[in-house]
Amino acid sequence: MFLYQFEDLRSAMLEDATAGLSRDQKSLSSKYFYDKRGSELFEAICELDEYYLTRSEIKIMERHIREICSSLGKRCLLVELGSGSSSKTRLLLKNMDDLTAYVPVDISGKFLQQTVNELEKEYPALKVMPVVRDYTQPFDIPDIPDVRRTVLYFPGSTIGNFPKAQARAFLERLCSILSVGDGLLIGVDALKDVSVLEAAYNDSQGITAAFNKNILIRLNKELEANFDINRFTHKAWFNSEEKRIEMHLISDTEQTVTIRDMPFHFREGETIHTENSCKYSDEDFRSLVAGLFEIEHMWMDSSAFFYVYYLRKR
Ligand code: TRP
Repeated sequence: MFLYQFEDLRSAMLEDATAGLSRDQKSLSSKYFYDKRGSELFEAICELDEYYLTRSEIKIMERHIREICSSLGKRCLLVELGSGSSSKTRLLLKNMDDLTAYVPVDISGKFLQQTVNELEKEYPALKVMPVVRDYTQPFDIPDIPDVRRTVLYFPGSTIGNFPKAQARAFLERLCSILSVGDGLLIGVDALKDVSVLEAAYNDSQGITAAFNKNILIRLNKELEANFDINRFTHKAWFNSEEKRIEMHLISDTEQTVTIRDMPFHFREGETIHTENSCKYSDEDFRSLVAGLFEIEHMWMDSSAFFYVYYLRKR
């Protein structure tokens, strides 16, 4: 069964894109990275030597899988936000005792369909109920009988992609769809040496650059824009005041780009800000969730590059 909760994604995209490109600091929302090609490029980023995040998180999950699964408990409804190819989730699916159902939520319908097909082959006994949805917008958790506890799974440090105030608001919203005792299993990228952070977002093979530019290709295809992607350069740097990596596309020349005949002017060197990736110390993250969730467990890798938290709604 395929559960569509579609609003008009394309008109929302047009509105977001034109509003973002009209600001003093031009910006595009990072959720539009993830069409099929974008999702595939992101999978390739996760395998890069420089991109330690995925590897560190998987190491933590592998090492502590027993403890993690027993924290989540039996008859759990596992809801994954932004499931992509669900690679980390397979570890949970394999090891969880008596899982009631798995609900992957993803904005990319095609990619989700592919993942669901694979999972149904691999786990014939598993009940999978996909939801095609932008999870930053309110959505309903399917009503399934025999569930003891709902656990939201939010891996990959995607929480870092929200500015801090929005991260708090997002966590409040998650909290509001849960009942007391329900859980949130969440991955968080730790603050660390700037050179390690910056290398992770400026890889030597240019895959990150292709991923970042894919957002312009999408605007060309889906919103009839005319970006010349050869006249933009990808660059990411650490903003130490905000404790975040910022991703930008820099206009190499002065130029005017149109989206459905609306002109957007670029000065030479002007940037489109496409993504933030906030980094948290353990202390910063604890204060982010304070009052909403109780921290039941925290696991980390041996270099303390990445944290996985199991939080319980208070
Ligand atoms: N969620 C990823 C992160 O913050 C997104 C990401 C990785 C990304 N590399 C990127 C976004 C490059 C834009 C450009 O780590």
